[in-house]
Amino acid sequence: MSLRFAAPDTPALPLHLVAEEALEGWLTGQAPEVAAWVRAMGFTGALGRVLVVPDAAGGIAMGLGGYGSATSRARGRFHLAGIAAALPAGTYRVAGLPEDQAETEALGWLLSHYAYERYRDQSPAKARLVAPEGVDAARLEIIAAGEALTRDLINTPANDLGPDALEAACAAIADQQGARVTCVRGEDLLAQNFPLIHTVGRASAVAPRLMDMRWGQSGPKLTLVGKGVCFDTGGLNLKPGSSMGLMKKDMGGAATVLGLAHMIMALGLPVQLRVLIPAVENAVAGNAFRPGDILTARNGLTVEVNNTDAEGRLVLADALSYGAEDAPDLMISMATLTGAARVALGPDLAPYYTDDTRFAGALEAAAARVADPVWRLPFHTPYEAMIEPGIADLDNAPSGGFAGSITAALFLRRFAGGLNYSHFDIYGWTPSAAPARPKGGVGMGARALLEALPEVLGL
Ligand code: BES
Ligand code: ZN
Ligand code: ZN
Repeated sequence: MSLRFAAPDTPALPLHLVAEEALEGWLTGQAPEVAAWVRAMGFTGALGRVLVVPDAAGGIAMGLGGYGSATSRARGRFHLAGIAAALPAGTYRVAGLPEDQAETEALGWLLSHYAYERYRDQSPAKARLVAPEGVDAARLEIIAAGEALTRDLINTPANDLGPDALEAACAAIADQQGARVTCVRGEDLLAQNFPLIHTVGRASAVAPRLMDMRWGQSGPKLTLVGKGVCFDTGGLNLKPGSSMGLMKKDMGGAATVLGLAHMIMALGLPVQLRVLIPAVENAVAGNAFRPGDILTARNGLTVEVNNTDAEGRLVLADALSYGAEDAPDLMISMATLTGAARVALGPDLAPYYTDDTRFAGALEAAAARVADPVWRLPFHTPYEAMIEPGIADLDNAPSGGFAGSITAALFLRRFAGGLNYSHFDIYGWTPSAAPARPKGGVGMGARALLEALPEVLGL
């Protein structure tokens, strides 16, 4: 698997992208035998269709890729990736790619080479591409590597990616990029006042921990916090089997912020970056925390546990309080936090929260540019009452489940110290394969954020 472009001087076959409405015009410019072949084969330019045109010696003269219509393209993204997957092995140079879509389509092509191959060889796309004119090839390769890192981490099952292995993955990323990372583990979490991380993770055979990675000496302070629940059984409020099956992905927030951190560091953005990852397994044992337990968080707020399956907001609470103590210019959390977010927006669209309309504007414009869709949900303050149980300051699982993603976001905001704060309640998983997005782990919102950061932080 190589998520790189072919060198610019590599001998390459032409790959013509032809939209349906442009086909007739394109054919008139071709040699008669080419036009005859394309017509005989019934190529219409329909989106994703691929046709190879042979040369006189029986080799490949060129590839044709159907670029569909604006309507068919609007139903998906990464169209060039769909074409790549259907092309014979070889190196191609693409022609006919609209300039405003070149970066995203070229990234999609790179990502079509992603496959999760830790346990079995897969066969990702074989065709290679010379970077299209005008795209920033090095930047796209860094973004693809960050996305691949996110996918690999999510796809790795909990027996090979517990809190210890997630710590090792953080250390490896830090090492590669010259970042510094520290980790508080096990009983030290209590000594250093991270009670909620300890409480959620203490029933696991692998000690809970908090990773703290820092990079960059100057510029605005950006703190990313990622939910690192390496497996979520639900705890004593055990999930039914059907809901537990995918819960190796419950560290999708951690995986996504690590992928984003890779991009930021490898691109050398002028920021002071900090990444906080509470890493735990929400397990069942005699020492597990219970429904009804009342916990005191790092910042002094008391929390009644009404469902041990609402564990993500607990571990994030202490990490956010800790992050806020440093007063960053912007703090962002990402988490596979609620089933409610999945129900509201489905697997493809990243729900996010912010109180800053400028941030929202910049993020949504960026998301559209890079085909990483996000959708704003409200930090609806009138719902604060729903997370107040009376017996303690906060309830981790309000009954009734009204606005489940919003109440979880409001819970987190209580720990963000009044900073400029945004939270992403992501799904982290592609349930059925699409171009450049095989079934399995996937980053959501990271590319949109990367694109928005210069405007948001005034870089
Ligand atoms: N990790 C889950 C949320 C989740 C489930 C994300 C399925 C994506 C897909 C989280 O820890 C959880 O179980 N949340 C509960 C909270 C509830 C008990 C208040 C939920 O959403 O049902
Ligand atoms: Zn849970
Ligand atoms: Zn969870």
